[in-house]
Amino acid sequence: MYDGRGFHLIIAIDGPAGSGKSTVARMLARRMGFRYLDTGAMYRALTWKAMQKGVNLNDENALCQLMDKTSIEFHQKDGNLHVFVDSVNVTEEIRLPAVTNNVHYISNAPGIRHRMVELQRKLAGEGNTVAEGRDMGTVVFPHAERKFFLDAEIEVRARRRYGEFKPSDHGLSYANVIQDMEIRDRRDTTRNNSPLTKSNDAIYIDTTDLTIEEVLNLILKEIRFIVKT
Ligand code: DC
Repeated sequence: MYDGRGFHLIIAIDGPAGSGKSTVARMLARRMGFRYLDTGAMYRALTWKAMQKGVNLNDENALCQLMDKTSIEFHQKDGNLHVFVDSVNVTEEIRLPAVTNNVHYISNAPGIRHRMVELQRKLAGEGNTVAEGRDMGTVVFPHAERKFFLDAEIEVRARRRYGEFKPSDHGLSYANVIQDMEIRDRRDTTRNNSPLTKSNDAIYIDTTDLTIEEVLNLILKEIRFIVKT
């Protein structure tokens, strides 16, 4: 299965929530004409389906069986990436706070991660890809052409996330956001299976005081030798 070595180029971008990696990965992919692989969206998509079906989120066997009969696909629409579960467009639903709060059940299950890694490698095998997540450089694409680890101080990450909220998310305060972020950080970095960690050969970028354009330019500078941008 494709792990980043060989015919297609993989740029791996990892980091915690609010580090700016999704925005940068999307812009980078567009700029280079690469595919954009949003692996967090895949974990969210299965979480959404499990919730819809009322599957016990603590039952790994049931979750794996569910994943085996679920199709998760990405389609480009109006210049944006849309996520489909069994042909249903769930792009907006998977960002709901209820999904965000439950996704750790899915991302903690080794059987699910194994299946997700296979699917992620299959998708990346279809063309040059910017792959974004928590374990792209460490586990999924150890042979990626370039790896980046984006990070920022938690107050700044929470502030960015808070700024993205829509009026329908009212009721959530900045204090709630920072608290949720601390919980997610702890879960992501301490889980047994593929915890969020910087790969030794990844380039670390602290985005605390940087704009998205500045981060993008830093990345473009690092990859200018492998692709013409
Ligand atoms: O990047 P995001 O917030 O959309 O990711 C949703 C969740 O999925 C996040 O809490 C951690 C998990 N995740 C993961 O475990 N491995 C990945 N490669 C991507 C996301």
